[in-house]
Amino acid sequence: MTTPRQIEFKEIALDTVAEMTGRIVVFVGLEGQLDQCARCVSSLSKGALKRFIASSAFEKMKPGQGADLAYPAGLACEAVQVIKLKRNPKAEDARKAGAAVAKAAGEADLHILAGNLGQAAEVSLGLALRGYDFNTHKTKVPERVGTATFMVSKPEEVAAQAGPMAAVAEGVFFTRDLVNEPANILTTDDFAARLAAMHELGLEVEILEESDLEKLGMGALLSVGQGSRSPSKVVVMQWNGGKKDETPFALVGKGVVFDTGGISLKPAAGMEDMTMDMGGAGVVAGVMRTLAMRKAKANVVGLVGLVENMPDGQATRPGDVVRSMKGDTIEVINTDAEGRLVLADVLWYAQERFKPTGMINLATLTGAVIIGLGHDNAGVFSNDNTLCNAFLKAAKVEGEGAWRLPLDESYDKLIDSRIADMKNTGGRPAGSITAAKFLQRFVPDTMPWIHLDIAGTALLKTESDLAPKGATGWGVMALDRLIRDLQEG
Ligand code: BES
Ligand code: MN
Ligand code: ZN
Repeated sequence: MTTPRQIEFKEIALDTVAEMTGRIVVFVGLEGQLDQCARCVSSLSKGALKRFIASSAFEKMKPGQGADLAYPAGLACEAVQVIKLKRNPKAEDARKAGAAVAKAAGEADLHILAGNLGQAAEVSLGLALRGYDFNTHKTKVPERVGTATFMVSKPEEVAAQAGPMAAVAEGVFFTRDLVNEPANILTTDDFAARLAAMHELGLEVEILEESDLEKLGMGALLSVGQGSRSPSKVVVMQWNGGKKDETPFALVGKGVVFDTGGISLKPAAGMEDMTMDMGGAGVVAGVMRTLAMRKAKANVVGLVGLVENMPDGQATRPGDVVRSMKGDTIEVINTDAEGRLVLADVLWYAQERFKPTGMINLATLTGAVIIGLGHDNAGVFSNDNTLCNAFLKAAKVEGEGAWRLPLDESYDKLIDSRIADMKNTGGRPAGSITAAKFLQRFVPDTMPWIHLDIAGTALLKTESDLAPKGATGWGVMALDRLIRDLQEG
């Protein structure tokens, strides 16, 4: 498991700066204003810092960006990283600053001279998040990860703010690890075992096996996994940190550990990316981990449907009709539209068992959402404006792109079937919306609900502000924020 770098907060001790080894980080205002730490570094370096600030290179830097002064005379460190940042920056810029520190860090120890910088805790979150490196399957890895010490004027205060943020980073790392993990390692069994291990953190974790799912009548979910050697499962994680007997909020995730398309086989090119088709389940798992690690005063239940979609003699055929737990029958037109079959049963089970105050499901559900929104925004679908707006606000605050798309009644007829109650695809037009309409048939009208289509945001081929290439953990921060807003007042 990848864990964030250890971060400490200590009081400023300027008399130790000259002897510090590794890397020193200082913050300089947008117009080149120096705080006491930067002034100290400047005088020890015989003015090197001031000369840099007078340069056009500094002028061109954006808030949150950094530049290195390597092996400065008068200091023992390898480099002084100068970061351009206001004394009271926006959280977003503070996180970017932390990310700049992480990107440049390598294996060196870090001494971050933050003094009385506002948002030092946000800098630490950016540092933790951008420091992620999925090296589980590399045979040559760094022997040690350097330490990170923030020198601040009020260490206890900053550490208290940074505590819950460290829990967020842990949750994001957990999600990223799950999403990056190949499917020969992250089987349904392995996934369930990793979730069961969160029992240690105080989560109640239950695993429903195939025989249980059969008894519950989850014919839609089971039809997806029946061509695989890995058994289908539903895992239920409960965090009860709120008031006793207070109704929980439910999070539901699509956990297709690999999606070949089944008998409606996908083309070979790019199929390897379908290791990330459990991204929705990965985000649910990450949020549950964060809630437990920060001991959230909230009651939340996370449910994930874990299956593998493989072609096989036992696999579901196009044209088969399956029966959902709800009782509605589904004509499987395309076995590659499998995520909605999984979610249909888990959504129904979640609302029937827990009668939650609201439900949010996440899924790498459609390629069409990537055509519509690219990789910058997840598709948001909801039957409830209040819940939806609360989510959109939380996502905005956390810098996670989210854009609402319509769920009009008129799209519903596109998934009517000639021989069953519905079919699992509505053709190419509005592909993400018809997928959402399919899910909506398994959510009672009175239940506030959001469907998040994260096919475009779960994994990126390029690095982003807070993540290297690969899994992003998109949604963990927004959902953690939403739960604070809704339940922790
Ligand atoms: N897992 C895919 C969607 C996907 C595509 C996720 C690209 C991430 C990146 C999903 O199961 C799927 O195959 N959807 C089909 C639905 C179609 C057959 C109606 C699609 O989007 O092509
Ligand atoms: Mn598919
Ligand atoms: Zn899929």
